[in-house]
Amino acid sequence: TIAVLDFGSQLTQVIARRIRECQVYSKIYHFSTPAAQLRADGVVGIILSGGPQSVYAKTAPHPDPEIFKLGVPVLGICYGVQLMGYFLGGKVALSQAREYGLGQLTIKRPGKLFAGLPKKLRIWNSHGDKLTKLPPGFTATAVSDNSPFSGIEDPKRRFYGIQFHPEVFHTERGVDMIRNFLVKVCGAQQDWTTKDFIAHAVADIRAKVGKDRVLLGLSGGVDSSVAAALLHKAIGKQLTCVFVDNGLLRKDEREYVEALYKRNFKIDLRVVDASKLFLKRLKGVSEPETKRKIIGRTFVEVFEKSLRSIGGAQFLGQGTLYPDVIESVSIQGNPASLIKTHHNVGGLPERMKLKLIEPLRELFKDEVRQVGAALGLPREVVWRQPFPGPGLGVRVMGDITADKLAILREADAVLQDEMMKSGHYWKVWQSFAVFLPVKTVGVFGDERTYDYVIALRIVESIDAMTADWAKIPHDILQKISSRITNEVRGVSRVVLDISSKPPATIEWE
Ligand code: XMP
Repeated sequence: TIAVLDFGSQLTQVIARRIRECQVYSKIYHFSTPAAQLRADGVVGIILSGGPQSVYAKTAPHPDPEIFKLGVPVLGICYGVQLMGYFLGGKVALSQAREYGLGQLTIKRPGKLFAGLPKKLRIWNSHGDKLTKLPPGFTATAVSDNSPFSGIEDPKRRFYGIQFHPEVFHTERGVDMIRNFLVKVCGAQQDWTTKDFIAHAVADIRAKVGKDRVLLGLSGGVDSSVAAALLHKAIGKQLTCVFVDNGLLRKDEREYVEALYKRNFKIDLRVVDASKLFLKRLKGVSEPETKRKIIGRTFVEVFEKSLRSIGGAQFLGQGTLYPDVIESVSIQGNPASLIKTHHNVGGLPERMKLKLIEPLRELFKDEVRQVGAALGLPREVVWRQPFPGPGLGVRVMGDITADKLAILREADAVLQDEMMKSGHYWKVWQSFAVFLPVKTVGVFGDERTYDYVIALRIVESIDAMTADWAKIPHDILQKISSRITNEVRGVSRVVLDISSKPPATIEWE
């Protein structure tokens, strides 16, 4: 095991992720974990994470000083280096100015940490204080524009430090530095795979849940689907999933989810048809935020009612991923424990006295996909495009009626079908149809028509924060357009949304 001591950096989980990329097993520990505990756990190397504080601050998190006497290699990153300076006899200077952003690293002596790397590398810094005097036994191995101690080492004791952040994407070859530490310095085994993650997660879930019951709201999206499959593998019949049909789902969505989980996975799945209630409450409402609020509130109400009718449970399962973890972390207590109470369930865990179980909370999206695939979920689920909680409710502009929803469903199904057939579905972030309550004149055969408009929204994005409209080949767009106007009654015109985000959002409402 590699121990990552967490000093409250937002990047601690990213360090853990990079270690997994090197196929090495690691565990995140609270910064104050006693050295004896680490020894008992068979730790072969320790990484000290970054952190937002100054080592001199009153509330600064400090490790057990004994960790430096365990005889195992230590790698300090950013705040971790300052801790090494502080505890091993160096000097750290308080600094008002932060060194933040890209910089250049020049490697003076590669040693084991920088072995095999080019002499000059782009690095990413984010620190205030810095080391001004090396602790005895240490030498500088790399310098940056702002620091003569960007890389330091005491190869005898196998202590290494880097002032910048090797774990972030912007640092060139950062993963190689981490791998060098794990493999060349610690001699860690590179045999940790997705299968091992699943085995560990299954054991953890069983230990935590015991004989209790877990309830999970299944949306059909990637995260809740993988969480369901993982929980089911661990506890089988102790898991009950609830799928709420809010009447705002895509064509055949409910049947698809039922077929997949009830029939193939034999998961105890309860489907609640609340479509009438949702549509009743949404009747005549056209303001987007009001629609969202009604949908959200009704969801929590229906979900809670169905959970009560199922009978007691002790746990609420959720597909929370690491990126859902709140950005600002508290240094008191375990920083990673501050998780956003997930979108849809409101204050339900408190009201129903349910404990949360979130088996994916340390993973990133792509890792979740790997886990899903390894658990036997089909590609259509694992690589599914995101779908908003309020569903088609925010894709029918203005007030929602069953007729408008029916038109949108058919048009959207045509779009998805052609996107799948051409393979573009897998290449874009999202592709969907939007219903515009605008009537325009058309001609069909000899008849004049006066029908609605469908807009196609197809975007590329990395994280949904920014997006650009996807340049789908014209022949595919043509096919989608002609199929929609031919196959979907009530639509005589199809338009393409060519707005980027910003200033437009991905969804229309
Ligand atoms: P916007 O429209 O803000 O969307 O550019 C960004 C991403 O978030 C999705 N989205 C939602 N997801 N509940 C969700 O779970 C919501 O209320 C919601 N609204 C938007 C949207 O599909 C896009 O991927």
